[in-house]
Parts: sequence; C-alpha cells; structure tokens
Amino acid sequence: MTATATTTLCGIVLHPAGHTRSPAMHNAAYAALGLDALYMAFDVPEPRLADAMAGVRGLGIRQISVSIPHKTRVLEFVDVVDATAGRIGAANTVVLQDDRLVASNTDWLGAIRALEQERSLAGTSAVVLGAGGTARSIVWGLINRGAVVRVLNRSVARAEALAQELGADGAGSLDSLASTPYDVLVNATSVGMGGDVSPVSAAAIRPQSVVLDAVYAPERTRLLRDAHARGARVISGRWMLIHQAVAQLEAWAGPIDAELVASVMANAFGPQPA
Ligand SMILES: NC(=O)c1ccc[n+]([C@@H]2O[C@H](COP(=O)([O-])OP(=O)(O)OC[C@H]3O[C@@H](n4cnc5c(N)ncnc54)[C@H](OP(=O)(O)O)[C@@H]3O)[C@@H](O)[C@H]2O)c1
Repeated sequence: MTATATTTLCGIVLHPAGHTRSPAMHNAAYAALGLDALYMAFDVPEPRLADAMAGVRGLGIRQISVSIPHKTRVLEFVDVVDATAGRIGAANTVVLQDDRLVASNTDWLGAIRALEQERSLAGTSAVVLGAGGTARSIVWGLINRGAVVRVLNRSVARAEALAQELGADGAGSLDSLASTPYDVLVNATSVGMGGDVSPVSAAAIRPQSVVLDAVYAPERTRLLRDAHARGARVISGRWMLIHQAVAQLEAWAGPIDAELVASVMANAFGPQPA
C-alpha cells in the first residue's frame, strides 16, 4: 500500500523485534477489509518505553500492540487501564481514544477463542503451566469462562500467589501434572520457544485432553508432538496469536468479519507445518 497524509498508523512495541509476525498479519487484514491503515514494528528497549508511548500519543498512532518485555510496565504510561487488563495486571493493546491512551488485554481472549475451536470451557478442569504474564491472562480467561483451574509452575510459590490472587482452584509443581486430572492443558511457560524441549513429561499428558501451546515458534513444539502421540487434540500457539490480533483490530476499527480476518491473518502467518 501507499501511505498518505490520512493513513491510520498502528504498530507494535517489543524488544527484540526481528521475529514478530504481527505487521504481516495486521497489514494483510487491513488490505482484506479495505482499511487505509499501516502497521509497523518498533524495536523499543525497556528504558525507551516511556518515550515510545509519548510518541504514540504525540504522533496519533491509533493502536499499538504491546509485547515482550513491556506488557506490565506499559500500564504506567497510559491514561486508562480497562478492568480486565487491571485485573490481569498486563496489557497487550493500547488504543488512542479521544486523545487518551486506553490499555486493554486481548491475550486471554486469543487463548480462549483458540481453545473454543475445540471445546466449550464451562465446567472443564484446566491446567495452566506457567506463572508469568501470559499465564495470568489465560488463567483469568479460563476462570471467566467457568473452568476450574490449577496453576503449575517451576517456581511453585509464584504459582500459588497467582492462583490465590485470581481465584484459581490450586497450584503446584510442573511434576505434579502426572497426578492431576484435567480436560484442558495450556502451556504458558516459555519452554519450547526456540528449543526442542517440553515443560512436562509425555507420560503426564492425558489422551482425551485438549492441549494448547502458547509458544508458536517453533509451531510443532515438543509438547504438541508428545500430546498428539498420546492421543490428545492439539492447538498451536498460532491460533492464540491470530485471535488476540483479531480482537486488537476490533478494538480500534469496530465490528469486523472476525472469521474472514482470522483466515487472512492465518495465511499471513504462514503455512501450517505438516
Ligand atoms: N501465542 C500467543 O499469542 C502468545 C501471546 C503471549 C505470549 N506467548 C508466549 O507465551 C510464553 C510465555 O510468555 P510470558 O510473557 O508469560 O513470559 P514470562 O512472564 O517471562 O514467564 C515465563 C514462564 O516460563 C517459565 N519458565 C521459563 N523457563 C523455564 C524453564 N527452563 N523451565 C520451566 N519453566 C520455565 C517461568 O517459570 P518461573 O516462574 O519458575 O521462572 C514462567 O512461568 C512465551 O513463549 C511467549 O512467546 C504467546
């Protein structure tokens, strides 16, 4: 596209920035919807976040996605934190509305929509691996949908604190997965990102379960390969990424054909591995 004086500017702040697929996904969606908008990646090291957010306001950037490592600290540099982002304690989306920066969180919805492609969540027992920002979003989302949630993490004290704060059913170590019954398993640790390792043993994966890995690079993680081999239904992190991005687009552009946009973004993400 050719940007003009009236083109809407959007983007993502993260560090490092080289790996992000968000510009390809959002720009493909703008083209499919006929929106005169352009989405760029901004490599912003942690000490520059305040300047970057001042720049968003000063330049009139309509929507900025927020990724690692800024999702928590960005709350300091906005005017309004919506109720969900406040409860989760992290935002991945900032929209400029009436000259105010409004922070929200669509990561939880991305994970929930990805899981709901496979099953409904009310009344299910779910296990979330991890106690970082992504785990917080997903635990909140699962509880919001009526699931009973257990949080397992390498640092058990962090899992216990998260579970207590958000109202999860319990907490424990990663090893305790083997003795935990569940219908849904979500990996929200960073284990598997860039390496062929899993946060849990294959034997602990329940054959009838649904397994979502938030890690999307590589896409066929060790956890998902183990889960598939155990007879579980697997969902790649690409779907969480796509659904959280669809919700980000809705946050500034208003109601859109979400199914069409998800399919356009999936194509832009790249082919699914065999
Ligand atoms: N698909 C998507 O749309 C999407 C969206 C957001 C994030 N993500 C992915 O989600 C993952 C987590 O992101 P985050 O922002 O929540 O990260 P984070 O806040 O840094 O949390 C990292 C988590 O991983 C655990 N961990 C790290 N190394 C470990 C190891 N060697 N063994 C066991 N546990 C380990 C940490 O456990 P301790 O507490 O013990 O340190 C912590 O629970 C990343 O891979 C990110 O790319 C995906």
